[in-house]
Amino acid sequence: MSLLITNIKQLIQVHEYNTTIVKGSDMKNLPIIENAYLYIENDTIIEFGDMKDCEGFDAETTIDASGKLVLPSWCDSHTHIVYAGDRTSEFVDRINGLSYADIANKGGGILNSAKKLQDTSEDVLFEQSLKRLNELIAMGTGAVEIKTGYGLTVEAELKMLRVIKRLKQESLAVIIPTLLAAHAIPEAYKNNKQDYIHYITEELIPKAAELNITNYIDVFCEDGYFDINDTDAILKAGKTYNLQPKIHVNQFNILGGIALGVKHNALSVDHLEELNDDDIKALKGSGTMPVALPGCSYFLSIPYTQGRKIIDSGLPLAIATDYNPGSAPSGNMNFVVGAACVKLKLTPEEAINAATINGAYAIGISNMYGSITRGKKANLIITKPMNHYSEIPYAFAHNPIDQVIINGQLL
Ligand code: NIG
Ligand code: FE
Repeated sequence: MSLLITNIKQLIQVHEYNTTIVKGSDMKNLPIIENAYLYIENDTIIEFGDMKDCEGFDAETTIDASGKLVLPSWCDSHTHIVYAGDRTSEFVDRINGLSYADIANKGGGILNSAKKLQDTSEDVLFEQSLKRLNELIAMGTGAVEIKTGYGLTVEAELKMLRVIKRLKQESLAVIIPTLLAAHAIPEAYKNNKQDYIHYITEELIPKAAELNITNYIDVFCEDGYFDINDTDAILKAGKTYNLQPKIHVNQFNILGGIALGVKHNALSVDHLEELNDDDIKALKGSGTMPVALPGCSYFLSIPYTQGRKIIDSGLPLAIATDYNPGSAPSGNMNFVVGAACVKLKLTPEEAINAATINGAYAIGISNMYGSITRGKKANLIITKPMNHYSEIPYAFAHNPIDQVIINGQLL
């Protein structure tokens, strides 16, 4: 199978040599070729360059992309798209004055989703999740991380993992599963959190590891959920099964979770709506990617992650949707790229780097995804006609996507 894309107005995120992460002031660079071509065989990027050098390709399919841009598809490194039903009523409660914490304290929030998920059959859960996955692919996402965390029992967490496995089998998208058993304290353990932590470390993690579906472990490190000691214990247990941390930290409070994540060699630390200088110091020189989730800040009306400050400190930054029923019910990476510019004060170049190559890094796939590089996988967006990539974040809430290619296949 071979595919040639011609007359590309801007071919974006072009790297001659494989790049796996961009940091600090380098994030201002977004290498492009104007009036370009791109040649793909099977699932792999074979050649690209100036349109004037486009000769000698005998492709089975040719797409004329006149007036359109081509870039790597979005890598959404943080989602919870396997959930049952929705939480629209809590949304209305928040409009009427309740906070995210108020709702959780009266049994809503994550526990509400856990109850719904436990009561939903695996097939129905799969169908609901596949619909969300297909929606986000249509919006330009080619690789997506999916967390468990609405099970909170061995049985229900394994159900979530099996659904994620089925999504992987059914969908062309690259799917990276993460075990988030430590998402909330179940009602039954309300007065003995240590027993739930023991249940996670001694039963849930070993049983999940047996399925051999995930390489990553997550913890919601937050007041009222899992504190630093709990998080440390769970990450240690994960390590014995080779699960690398990608953790929820600093969403509402600073507990020292960033330094703890770095100590445990976390691949990413996500949220960071609250952030201090010690957190930034802890990240320096580490391999841990800070991940901002502007959709969550928008939806909960909480502070936006200081993306500008993170990048100006010389660090890398990734952005993701956090698509989930409670704090960010949207999987639209185009909106996230726009919000990163408007609210985090990233330039369009920085935002696109954060949503492609750095997003890929945050799910451990940037060696094969996230840039236009010979030998990398052909996961691509072809935009609607536009003059410049800055129009993607500029025209917020518009859909800039014309076509999507995943692993060489045109959808
Ligand atoms: O990333 N903060 C923890 N987890 C999710 C929200 C989960 C929910 O409200 O259902 C988040 O915001
Ligand atoms: Fe999340």
